[in-house]
Amino acid sequence: MQDNLNISKAMIIKLEEMFDNLPKMPSFTEGIRRAPARQFTLNQQDTELALKNALRYIPQKWHQQLAPEFLEELLTRGRIYGYRFRPAGHIKGRPIDEYRSNCIEGRAFQVMIDNNLDFDVALYPYELVTYGETGQVCQNWMQYHLIKKYLEVLNDEQTLVMQSGHPLGLFTSLPEAPRVIITNGLMVGCFDDPQNWNRAAALGVSNYGQMTAGGWMYIGPQGIVHGTYSTILNAGRDKLGIPADQDLSGRLFVTSGLGGMSGAQGKAIEIANGVGIIAEVDYSRIKTRLEQGWVNRVTEEPAEAFKVAAKYQQQKKSIAIAFYGNVVDLLEYAVNHNIKIDLLSDQTSCHAVYEGGYCPQGISFEERTELLRSGHAGFKEMVDTSLRRHYELVKALSDRGTYFFDYGNSFLKAVFDAGVSEICKNGKDPIDGFIFQSYVEDIMGPILFDYGYGPFRWVCLSGKEEDLAKTDRTAMECIDPERRFQDRDNYVWIRDAEKNKLVVGTKARILYQDAMGRMNIALEFNDMVRNGEIGPVMLGRDHHDTGGTDSPFRETANIKDGSNITADMAVHCYAGNAARGMSLVALHNGGGVGIGNAINGGFGLVLDGSERVDAVIRRAIPWDVMGGVARRAWARNENSIDTSIQYNKMRAGADHITIPYIADDKMVADLVTNAFANNKS
Ligand SMILES: NC(=O)c1ccc[n+]([C@@H]2O[C@H](COP(=O)([O-])OP(=O)(O)OC[C@H]3O[C@@H](n4cnc5c(N)ncnc54)[C@H](O)[C@@H]3O)[C@@H](O)[C@H]2O)c1
Repeated sequence: MQDNLNISKAMIIKLEEMFDNLPKMPSFTEGIRRAPARQFTLNQQDTELALKNALRYIPQKWHQQLAPEFLEELLTRGRIYGYRFRPAGHIKGRPIDEYRSNCIEGRAFQVMIDNNLDFDVALYPYELVTYGETGQVCQNWMQYHLIKKYLEVLNDEQTLVMQSGHPLGLFTSLPEAPRVIITNGLMVGCFDDPQNWNRAAALGVSNYGQMTAGGWMYIGPQGIVHGTYSTILNAGRDKLGIPADQDLSGRLFVTSGLGGMSGAQGKAIEIANGVGIIAEVDYSRIKTRLEQGWVNRVTEEPAEAFKVAAKYQQQKKSIAIAFYGNVVDLLEYAVNHNIKIDLLSDQTSCHAVYEGGYCPQGISFEERTELLRSGHAGFKEMVDTSLRRHYELVKALSDRGTYFFDYGNSFLKAVFDAGVSEICKNGKDPIDGFIFQSYVEDIMGPILFDYGYGPFRWVCLSGKEEDLAKTDRTAMECIDPERRFQDRDNYVWIRDAEKNKLVVGTKARILYQDAMGRMNIALEFNDMVRNGEIGPVMLGRDHHDTGGTDSPFRETANIKDGSNITADMAVHCYAGNAARGMSLVALHNGGGVGIGNAINGGFGLVLDGSERVDAVIRRAIPWDVMGGVARRAWARNENSIDTSIQYNKMRAGADHITIPYIADDKMVADLVTNAFANNKS
């Protein structure tokens, strides 16, 4: 067997190069949210394995001291985070010039990683959770240091390989290849379920990256404000009959969650000029949103919440009210008092429903945290009971005319898992979908994704406010507000973005755009970098996009040719982006909806002003979007067929999409009915 001395001598990138002595255990800053204890189900043998796994990062001289400490973390928190190695104090995405690397991408990714772990940005920064209850940058602080060191030594002929938070190593590639390739949480098919994944995560061999947490592209809650704004605005237009040139004034939207992404709801309703009540059980999250000005008022009384809402509705003024309490209690009140709610949704973290994502009715947030720590079995039943009641209330309101939609948080699936099979269209399983629509199925899919509109984003890596203002103006000039109502909405969004004070963390912006819109804006930005008008820019997107995610309960919920349960698109998007030279590509399991429910990917592209990057923009950005549009067109989605027809004309001689012929419904139905009838007889 190799001895540890030989192993240490064989590496130059290792923890002992970064620390002369074992760092002191840093103190935990008061008021910074901590992740609840994760489910610990390892048996004795697996617990030994988990310890040995974590000690792989640690030089032998520290094993005696760290082994009991790691064991304690595992037994009390369900995971080994290696708290001792967390840098003391506040981590922040600093201006790019303050980082070291042999290539610009290496510095840029360090900005992004640190932003994902910023106290002001991350949900549970000590546990490396950026958002969505469980979405981590990587698994532990030992990995964090190694990743940063690898990024420092990375040069532009190497690629850093990231496997579920673990930096496997640097390997020679090409200047045109990605500098970082990331996967998170990928499981072999027969083990691709939360139970097996939970074991793997406790063993320290798998990371849940959500979308942009493990993909290093999170830009704070702003990232989701634009999508939320578009969703509720278009829900109003589509379901409440509001004309395309008007907003939500006088309308009431009720929902829950003021966390990482759900925290966008207050701001979005305000921008859409409507009235919102958002239930939240964790006061610390309400406090954050109040301080940001993303909610305007807080109450513990449902009666007061609805009274204030009615007043603002009457005056056609916008307000976001935080209800400090359980969403189920809020809805009980609305049903019992016959209150008219126009739009209803839910953004509790139902993708991790038994791990703390959903607080059951009847207990406080603090009691839920204590129960998670001590008595998991009883907790599950409480969650299921609450979900069943939650469903009954949603159904009662919907029967009275409220439009309810699932907000991509697996609420409908969680209700089904809690034992409500009537929530399924076929009354038995989710294969044909649910009786309520998911927001993508009904709204975002047909109105945005099918055209290629999606959550394009950028970060001004200089950290300068004026760079962001310049990019905002340039992006606005690239949009023709007269082309479609979506373009008008996007134009208004970017015109007012600075005024709406959306930035938390690095100087970043989100802007929904289609393929050509994204490409044109990216080329303009790269030109600005070249001319020295602005510093370098990181381009990227949420995985929650036209082509990045295969998720039958969400992004691909409006794909109806049966392929919604396949994941070819997301994998091709990822591989295609790597082949076309994006700076970073990421592929994850379960983003947004939990392990086993999705495959999702994204990219990062560093704009350094070079002609090489111009070429990457021209070949990779249209692919990133149009691969998804092409698949949606093949599924017979009408808006995607139109978009593909135009694309084939516009890109003749370069790109070409296969477009489906449409069979006559009646002809097919008659034929099959006859065949089945004959078969029976
Ligand atoms: N909006 C979108 O477009 C979008 C996109 C991706 C994912 N999601 C999904 O939305 C969910 C929320 O994401 P997040 O990042 O905000 O997660 P989060 O965990 O940060 O926030 C959820 C919030 O819900 C609160 N909560 C839980 N149970 C509650 C209850 N019964 N009543 C009231 N409040 C309760 C929690 O305290 C928490 O603050 C996730 O499942 C996520 O995957 C939404």
